[in-house]
Amino acid sequence: MTTQWANELWNNIVDKVGLTSTTIGAGFPYISYKGRYEHEKVDWWTNGFWPGLLWLVYRETRNESLKEIASDIETKMDAVLLDFYPLHHDVGFMWSLSSVAQFKLLGSELSKRRAMTAASHLLGRYNAKGQFIRAWNQPERVGWAIIDCMMNLPLLYWASEESNDPRFRHAAILHADTTLREFLRPDGSTHHIVCFDPETGERIEAHGGQGYSPDSAWSRGTAWSLYGMALSARYTGEVRYIDAAKRAAHFFLANLPEDGLPPWDFRAPWDEDMAMDSSAAACAASGMLELSLLVPKEESELYRSRAEKLVRKLNERYTAWNDPNEEAILRMGTANCPRNTHVNVPLIYGDYFFAEAVCKLRGMQDTFW
Ligand code: GLY
Repeated sequence: MTTQWANELWNNIVDKVGLTSTTIGAGFPYISYKGRYEHEKVDWWTNGFWPGLLWLVYRETRNESLKEIASDIETKMDAVLLDFYPLHHDVGFMWSLSSVAQFKLLGSELSKRRAMTAASHLLGRYNAKGQFIRAWNQPERVGWAIIDCMMNLPLLYWASEESNDPRFRHAAILHADTTLREFLRPDGSTHHIVCFDPETGERIEAHGGQGYSPDSAWSRGTAWSLYGMALSARYTGEVRYIDAAKRAAHFFLANLPEDGLPPWDFRAPWDEDMAMDSSAAACAASGMLELSLLVPKEESELYRSRAEKLVRKLNERYTAWNDPNEEAILRMGTANCPRNTHVNVPLIYGDYFFAEAVCKLRGMQDTFW
């Protein structure tokens, strides 16, 4: 029975997060080496995932100490909002899982203001000529957009709902449509980076980015596209986003090795020390569970059951429940293979998406996104 199995898995997550919250505390964990999470600077793009994980557990346990830690992290991140210059498009990752989460759970007015500030920044990155959201800040990248940004769009949809101002949603929809047109391929794979002329909005070229080549299939990029399109569909009800999420899901599943652990890029040549990416699998599983809520009943079970199978495989082979000296939940993620940074190690976002998928398998349909 799914529920009993998922409940047992959830109990492992609750126990683990209860323990690691005492060692990780109100920090910014990113990659785990030798069992300990290394922490990042306050402006790092992954800084929403640890508070997000704490809020997932708090939502069901009401463990006050987790709430305190997640709130402290949010307070520390205020310095970034005020600093402005380090902010980039990943304000969605950062403030959806921290401030939007706290607002949805506890109605905090301060958290709402933080998330609205972050959403306003994201809207300010919109290039009206090219109809895309600018990714990073380097001057030579002013016309660059990346697939990851699909996961930042929920902050804009949320901001429109909260403020009754459709501008945030308009920008999100136009960016999602540009992504559909310029990134996603008919087979369900996607480019990582597409560069546009920032003056005219014309497409210039695609780059490989964190994938193997411009025409390859970075596995986490596929997961960002799958889950991001599903979330755009959840907020807008648009069938074209559901169809795009399905295409990405089918591509992901068709290319997934038997043991559920994707290579860092589905089209990279295999070698002995292949970099693998459990975070892509965890994100894809949670994305498929989102998708299962959006399709007709007769299709829903396909996505739910494939997501469950994936979570089961990850759990059997790549979780660290039996290692009291490991702070992370999920092993074998890869942050950036082309740069050879953080290969086959636990990543905080792998932990988050794994826990989120388990929540969904237990029937939790509300999301912080
Ligand atoms: N958003 C950056 C990454 O997926 O590594």
